[in-house]
Amino acid sequence: MLSRHVPNLRHPSKWMFAPLLLFLAELDCSAQPTYQWKDAVTNEKLTCQQCPPGTFVAQHCTRDRQTVCEPCPDLHYTQYWNYLEKCRYCNVICGEKQVEVQQCNSTHNRVCQCQEGYYSEMEFCIRHSKCPPGSGVEKLGTPFENTQCGACPRGFFSSSDSSTKPCQPHQDCEQQGKVTNVQGNQYHDTLCTSCRLGRSNSTQGPALGDDDCEQAMIDFVAYQNIPVRKLKRLQQILEGSPKKPALGTRAAMQEKFRAFLIHLKEGHYEVTKELLDALRAAKLHSVEEKVRERFLLS
Ligand SMILES: *[C@@H]1O[C@H](CO)[C@@H](O)[C@H](O)[C@H]1NC(C)=O
Ligand SMILES: *[C@@H]1O[C@H](CO)[C@@H](O)[C@H](O)[C@H]1NC(C)=O
Repeated sequence: MLSRHVPNLRHPSKWMFAPLLLFLAELDCSAQPTYQWKDAVTNEKLTCQQCPPGTFVAQHCTRDRQTVCEPCPDLHYTQYWNYLEKCRYCNVICGEKQVEVQQCNSTHNRVCQCQEGYYSEMEFCIRHSKCPPGSGVEKLGTPFENTQCGACPRGFFSSSDSSTKPCQPHQDCEQQGKVTNVQGNQYHDTLCTSCRLGRSNSTQGPALGDDDCEQAMIDFVAYQNIPVRKLKRLQQILEGSPKKPALGTRAAMQEKFRAFLIHLKEGHYEVTKELLDALRAAKLHSVEEKVRERFLLS
């Protein structure tokens, strides 16, 4: 008698549970959960049928009648077979920086998740970390996990603070028919130039004022291993002002100094000559020598 195992469902929409119940009943008559209940009138101990998810016990069973289940009201749910006299309230409320990923329905509480760009830690949504220059993203952050960063390996670089960018490989100058002017490191790319370098053909040294060569010289100087204090001094000399540039990491100072030199060049400043003079004034003689040798300035 299969019908014995189907709870008395008053609401017509609850007949959608019938196929599941029939299936369970066919599978094994004991599969449908029950509970012990003492009849208030007769004091008789009864075995009642539980109510399926999405419903609750409106009336406990009696000697003559099965349990009466009713569907949960709006904003209430029961997730499991139960003998609750009331459905649970959907008590999860999505907070700031959260989005609702599962609506409250008759069988499930509401589910919230951190919004795009945030992950959850101790109930808070925290913005995904950015990987600093010299390191790149190894694993993008998720709503549950922070970004994972890793130092750029040999041959790769990252010059930005980013929560999405992995380390990029250094460019290959020869492939572009150019020569390597500055070897890349973990903070910056390799810099190529079309300016012909070296003493291989001293009669054909690059003319001062050649834009490619000026740029090459700026790049070359900016990325020398000049100590941070000396870089600061150099910039002060070139600016002709006592104003002290803020100190930062060497990589950051190099980028700033390079941008500063490019700015000077674009102002049609005689940047190559000024730069050599500044190197001398800052007592960076070995760097000055290297520049002269490389760019054939005598
Ligand atoms: C309630 O939501 C859950 C999870 O999203 C879903 O699997 C289930 O089918 C929904 N139930 C109803 C009755 O809509
Ligand atoms: C070197 O200079 C000479 C004479 O100016 C020129 O003929 C020759 O092509 C140059 N060589 C290279 C490699 O540029």
